[in-house]
Amino acid sequence: PTAKAAPVRGVIPYGAAVRTDLLDTEFDYKAAIVDHCQLVVGEGGLKWFDLRPSEDQFVFDQPDRLIDFAHQNGMQMRGHTLAWYGAMPDWTQTIASPAQAERELVHHITTVVGRYQGRIPSWDVVNEAIAEHPERGATIRGSIWQERLGKRYIELALRTAADVDPSAQLVINDYNIENPTQQCRDRRQALLDLLRDLKDRDVPLHAVGIQGHLPGDMEIEKEGLSKFVEAVKEMQLEVLVTELDVIDNKLPAREYDRDQIVAARAGDFLKAISDVARPSAILTWGITDRYTWVPMWFKRDDGKPNRPLPLDAGCRPKALMKVI
Ligand code: XIL
Repeated sequence: PTAKAAPVRGVIPYGAAVRTDLLDTEFDYKAAIVDHCQLVVGEGGLKWFDLRPSEDQFVFDQPDRLIDFAHQNGMQMRGHTLAWYGAMPDWTQTIASPAQAERELVHHITTVVGRYQGRIPSWDVVNEAIAEHPERGATIRGSIWQERLGKRYIELALRTAADVDPSAQLVINDYNIENPTQQCRDRRQALLDLLRDLKDRDVPLHAVGIQGHLPGDMEIEKEGLSKFVEAVKEMQLEVLVTELDVIDNKLPAREYDRDQIVAARAGDFLKAISDVARPSAILTWGITDRYTWVPMWFKRDDGKPNRPLPLDAGCRPKALMKVI
């Protein structure tokens, strides 16, 4: 008999992004999360758009609900996210000066991280800080923070979070670093440059989150990804997989075939990382195909539903669940 490879699950904590609003109405959805996850993260809820309807308001209902749910069921909650160009409420456009931007960012992080101090063990402090430009490499992405403060906003966010919760794992989270395209190579390089600069100046930072929204029709550049993780490890940073799913809009229609390719792709991705460093966590961006962001951007031409996640729409495990 051939020895079965040791399952990674059980060793590395697994989690999923959760739509908190469904926990009270979708019983099988809630049960799937409780059954499979050691970690949860709000798919929204802690984003500026959800938390900050106006400058003087913080609406904590969703994250408060999710952290209660997590703790009642023996799970931990990750925080996503404190500084991102996306999901910003309109009023933030009125942040005019560098001084005001600094005040707003510090006030936000102090309030939010402070509320959950000691209870959210890991934060995506900065999300998607890298932008690529065809022909001229990758740079720090534009956002209200970058426009007002320059790349200094990244350091400011990290230092503020560390001051408020010194026990939290502080993460820089990014995407599109795993494929054999020039764009991904540029992004890996820009991200490593950013990390090295922060480490050189002793900015508090503990880990890199690799989102892992994998294009199903593209190979993983295993060597490039492993080298990236090697460089991260040399900087004494941990890695975690934060938003894994496989974008299947260009994959075969037949469900069985599609599910095999999805699982193989994720398997290659996780192996390229784990061969070098054991991730401190693996999270998928959703758990069931019933609720996924993928069709918002990557609908299939044949009208068939996407299947990017470990459980099918009926919450039954697919091949992907076996490789996590
Ligand atoms: C997405 C959510 O899944 C959507 O429901 C929301 O409308 C937009 O944001 N990378 C990230 C996540 O870091 O925050 C994004 O989540 C998906 C891509």
